Amino acid sequence: MSSTAPWWRSAVIYQVYIRSFADGNGDGIGDIAGIHSRLPYLKSLGIDAIWINPWYKSPMADHGYDVADFRAIDPRFGTMAEAEALIEEAHRHGIRVIPDIVPNHVSDQHAWFRAALAAGPGSAERERFVFRPGRGPDGAEPPNDWMSCFGGPAWTRLPDGQWYLHLFAPEQPDLNWEHPDVRAEFEDILRFWFSRGVDGFRIDVAHGLVKHPELPDLPPRRDPDAPAPAERVPHPHWDRDEVHEIYRAWRRVADEFPGDRSFVAEAWADSPARLANYVRQDRLHTAFNFDFLMASWDARQLREVIDGSLTTLGSVGAPATWVLSNHDVTRHPSRFGRKVVKKWVANETYRPEGPLDFELGTRRARAAALLMLSLPGGAYVYQGEELGLPEVEDLPDEVLQDPCWERSGHADRGRDGCRVPLPWSGQEAPFGFSPEGATGEPWLPQPALWKDHSVEAQTGDATSMLELYRRALHLRRGLPALGEGDMTWLDAPAGVLAFTREPGFVCVVNLSAEPYQLPEHTSLLLASGPVEDGLLPQDHAVWLSR
Ligand code: GLC
Ligand code: CA
Repeated sequence: MSSTAPWWRSAVIYQVYIRSFADGNGDGIGDIAGIHSRLPYLKSLGIDAIWINPWYKSPMADHGYDVADFRAIDPRFGTMAEAEALIEEAHRHGIRVIPDIVPNHVSDQHAWFRAALAAGPGSAERERFVFRPGRGPDGAEPPNDWMSCFGGPAWTRLPDGQWYLHLFAPEQPDLNWEHPDVRAEFEDILRFWFSRGVDGFRIDVAHGLVKHPELPDLPPRRDPDAPAPAERVPHPHWDRDEVHEIYRAWRRVADEFPGDRSFVAEAWADSPARLANYVRQDRLHTAFNFDFLMASWDARQLREVIDGSLTTLGSVGAPATWVLSNHDVTRHPSRFGRKVVKKWVANETYRPEGPLDFELGTRRARAAALLMLSLPGGAYVYQGEELGLPEVEDLPDEVLQDPCWERSGHADRGRDGCRVPLPWSGQEAPFGFSPEGATGEPWLPQPALWKDHSVEAQTGDATSMLELYRRALHLRRGLPALGEGDMTWLDAPAGVLAFTREPGFVCVVNLSAEPYQLPEHTSLLLASGPVEDGLLPQDHAVWLSR
C-alpha cells in the first residue's frame, strides 16, 4: 500500500464509549476531560483514531443516542471548548477524532419535536417527523405493525390522537428524510463539526433513514433456515435503495473540507453486496463489518466472511474493516467462551446459554485479535477489549439502564453488561475511573475482578491482553505488509486459518483440536500464547515473518 493512501483505508479506530471511559470531574460519568487525560494511554496503545459515542446535549433516554441539540455538548460530558481542545490535543498526539452522528431520529426534547407537538395535527412542524392517524375504530391501533428495536410497537399515540414513529425508544422520534429541512439541517451539522476539525463521523443506524412512502406492514417473517428468495424483497424501513442519495450528498459535504475526512456506516445489511452499496466511490468511505462480528469461533465461517468481505468490498474499491465488539453486543471473550450463544446481538433478546469458560473465551479472544489486526483493511477496538474485559452478566436488576430492559418487559437485560466503566488502576472501585475524592459512584457498579483487568495491573505483564494488543498494534504500524493490501491463503488442514501478506508476513490461527506444525519462517513476531517445538496449540494464533 502506498504511503499516500488515505488514513481511513487501514486505520485502527478505538471506540470510546464516553460514559464509561474515564471520568474527569468525579461525578461517576465518563466525560471529555477524562478522554483528554487518557490521550497518552491511547497514543501508547498505538491506535490511529478514536470514535466517540454521542456527546451532544441529550436527556439520555438511550445514553446520548437521543440528541436534543447537535451543536451543543451535554453538560455531563463537558463543554464545546473542551471538545475543541480535545480534538486539537488528539491531533497533536497523531490521533484522529470521529464523533457519532445520529440522523435517523432525535430526542423528544429536540426543538423540532417540541415544536411539532405544540403545533398539532396537520401542521408543517409535524412533517419533519412521521405522524399518522391510527387504524381501527377511533384510530386506537398503531398505523402499522412495525416494532421498536427495543421492544414493543414502533408507534406512540399522543393525547391529540395522532401517532408518531420511533424505531427505537418513544423518546427517539424518527425524522422524515423526505423533508428538505431534515436534509439541509444534517448537512449543516456535518459542516459545523468538520469546521471544528473532526476527521469523520460514525453514522448511527445508517440503513434506517428512508421509509417506504406508504408505510406498509412488515412482510411475513421468513424462516431463517429456508433458502433466500431469488429476488430480494425490499424491507419497508431497513436498507432501502433511496438512502444512498442522502450519502451522496454527505460525501460532497465531506469533500468540501481539506484533509481526508471520512464516514463509517453502522449499516446492518443482509449480504456483503448490500453492504457494498454504502461504500461506493461517491458515497460513504467504510462500513462496519458485522458479519465478522457475528461469526462464531469457527474456521470455515470466518474464512467465508473474510473472503466474502474482501471480494465484495474490493469490487467497489472500498477497504474492508474488522470488528469484534462494540457497545451494543456481548463482549467477545464471553461470546467465545460458550458453546452456544444465541442472539447476542443488540436489540434481540440476549440469553447466554450454558456455562461460561472464561479462560477458553480469553484464549480465543487473544487469537481473534491477531487475526483481526492482520487482515487487509482497517479495524475497530472497543474500549476494554484490550483489557480482556468480560461481559458483566450479573448486574443487579435495579441498576440496569438500557431502555431494552424496560421495553422488553424485563425479557432482555440489554447492553449494560458491555458498558461498565473501565478499570484503570487500584484494588477497588472506582479503579481509577474517577479521580481521587470523587463524589459520585461509577454509573454502573464495577465487579471486584476489575482489579485484575486494570491498565495498571496489566502493564508490563507480557502475558496480559493489554501487552498483546500493544505489541500487535506497534508491529502493525511498523510492518509494511499489514494494513490495506492483499492476502493469500496457505494450504492448511480444516480448522486452521493460515495466510501470507507481502512482504514476508504470515498469520496462522489454529481453531482445530490438533496442534499445528507452523509453516517455514525466519522469526516468530508475536504469539497469542506459548508455542513449543513449532507446534501451535488449539485456539492460538501467531504472526511470523519469512
Ligand atoms: C445504534 C447504536 C445503539 C443505539 C441505536 C439507536 O444501533 O449503536 O447504541 O441504541 O442505534 O440510536
Ligand atoms: Ca464526569
